[in-house]
This record gives sequence, structure tokens and C-alpha cells, in this order.
Amino acid sequence: MRSVIDIVDLSVEEINGLLSTAKDIIKHPKKYSKKCKGKKIATLFFEPSTRTRLSFEAAMIELGGSAIGFSSPSSSSASKGESISDTAKVVSKYADIIAMRHYHEGAPLVASLNGDIPVINAGDGGHCHPTQTLADLLTISREKGSIDNLTVGFCGDLKYGRTVHSLIGALARYKNVKIVLISPKELAIPSYVKEDVLDKYNMEYIETANLEEALPTLDVLYMTRIQAERFTDKAEYERLKDSYVLTREKLNKAKEDTIVLHPLPRVNEISVDVDDDKRACYFEQVENGKFMRMALILMLLDIAKKDKSKYKIDDSKIVYNKFKCKNPVCICQTEQELKGMAKDCDGVWRCVYCDKNL
Ligand code: NCD
Repeated sequence: MRSVIDIVDLSVEEINGLLSTAKDIIKHPKKYSKKCKGKKIATLFFEPSTRTRLSFEAAMIELGGSAIGFSSPSSSSASKGESISDTAKVVSKYADIIAMRHYHEGAPLVASLNGDIPVINAGDGGHCHPTQTLADLLTISREKGSIDNLTVGFCGDLKYGRTVHSLIGALARYKNVKIVLISPKELAIPSYVKEDVLDKYNMEYIETANLEEALPTLDVLYMTRIQAERFTDKAEYERLKDSYVLTREKLNKAKEDTIVLHPLPRVNEISVDVDDDKRACYFEQVENGKFMRMALILMLLDIAKKDKSKYKIDDSKIVYNKFKCKNPVCICQTEQELKGMAKDCDGVWRCVYCDKNL
């Protein structure tokens, strides 16, 4: 049984396979329209969503299957105190695959370890969002012709922006990708992304607070929203919320063939007058998300057909119940009787659920 919790659960070969399938779906949608006949996806969304939930549901419907689920915890038994592990065991009796979004980091991992069907992480707190990465990669591949040899700038909330963490985790494994991290220092990329991805893969990267200076060097500009809901200090959010606003005038400093991506929703970071610029690709990115989710659902259901064993993680470097995670939004703070799991990352112990240092 396979689940996709983090983008590293997919090898580059598998990601490239998903890109090819998605491109084939775009060309020959009819060929795929009955592939999931009789199959159900359960979309379990404990946090707000427009694109991700609807695109998972549209993806399954376009494959000939159907969708069940909920779009807020208040309409599920979570509001009565049901655990994630019990929720996953229950939903496994009704559906063939789960897409889960949760405000607690690591919740989809707990679901995948306890349910009997594949789980796709549709965003866990400020941690990971692997299927947005698939949408981003298809957009880059279709617009630029390749994912190799690009300079990619990430701008905005790099601390809490889970889409940024996952996309960097994928780009690290392509050839000669350079990264420019553009953020106020308060919203800089977490140290685990630096150590486990940027440093581990010897990626060339720079950090700056200046978008305008970085713009002319970029092939891809990935704008992000400042994640209001993740700030504990609301005054800090107010101070940082308009750190970057991409206007048409600023975009004139970029190359003619730079592409502008944004996982959406945007609040104020891209002014609407940029939408008509041919470099703006964020609405194409939305549609690409559906095609990649179709490809991923097909892949995971195919694997599940052959391998019915429970999902497991590689526990060669894991110790149990030795450390207590202090991250207040880690799933281990709320889930009943969860085994504390720590992994040894080159001498640093990290929580397996949320990746924070212990
Ligand atoms: C992103 C998310 O949920 O992390 N949205 C999405 O899934 N397309 C980005 C965001 O909310 O800012």
C-alpha cells in the first residue's frame, strides 16, 4: 500500500511518470473517463479549501468514480472528539482512497498508518502540500518545456507556506535548479528544509528580502500568500502582510519568458492587472492540479490493487517515545495514545510527524 504524505514519497521517475500521464489525460480525456468506475475518493478536509478539495473530487469524477467527504471538522465526528486514526479506520470501510487536509502537522501520516486505503496529504498545517507541487511541476513543464536548468524564486511566506516546502523538495532532485528565497527574515524558510533538502542536495540558493532585485534573474517566480491563520502574534501578521505586492510595473523588470506562479488563494500579493500578462500562469496552474491529481489517483489505486498490505514507513532510523515534540501544531499534541516517533537526521533528532527539531 502506498500513500503520498510528503513529496519525497515519490521518486523523480514516478513524478515524471505522473507528468506524462497528466499530459496524456489532457490529450485523450475519453480514454480515462471510466478508469475509476465504481471507485470512491473521500475528501476529509479539516481546514478551508476551494481548489484542492474540488479538484480532487473533479479528478475522481472525470475518471468515472465518485466523491464523498466533508469540508469542515464541524460537520464530522472530529467535533465530538474522534481521533484521526479512528476516522481513517472508519473511512477505509466506505472509500478506496482518502485526500486529507488538516491544521495539525502530521495528521495525514497518522491516517495513513491506521487506515486500510491510500492516503494523500492535501496540506498539513505549515508543513507539506505534495499535490500542489505536482500542479506546480506540470505547469513549469508545460510552460518552460523542462524542469531542469531553471532559476526559481519563491517570494512571501516561506516559513509557513507548505507549498514552498514541498516544491523545493521536488526541485532539489531535478538537474541544475537554482533557488532564490525572497522573504522578510521573520518568514524565512524553516531550518529543516535548508538542512534536509537545500544542503543535502547541494542546491545553489540565495536568500534576499528584495523582490525587485531578484526578478530579472528568475525563470519562475512563485508568489505566496502570507499565511494569516498560522501566526500566533496577529500584530506581526499585520506588520508583514503586505511585504510583497507584484504589480505590472514591477513585472516589467522580469524576463520576457519568466512565468509567474501562485498556489492561490491570493490576497494582495499579485495585483489583478498582472492577470492579463502572458507570463501569469496561476489560473493554468489550477487546472493542471486536477490533471495531476487524476494521474496520482490512478497510480495509487493501481498500486493498492496489487499490494493490500498496510502502509508502513521506513523505521530504520526511528526511535519510539524517546523525545517529546514541542511543536504546538503537531498531531502528537492531540491524537490519543500516539507513539512519539523521532528520526535521526545526520545527528539531529526530528519529529517524524512534523519534521521539527526535538
Ligand atoms: C495553498 C495551501 O492551502 O497551502 N492553497 C492551495 O492548496 N492551492 C496556499 C495557501 O493557502 O496560501
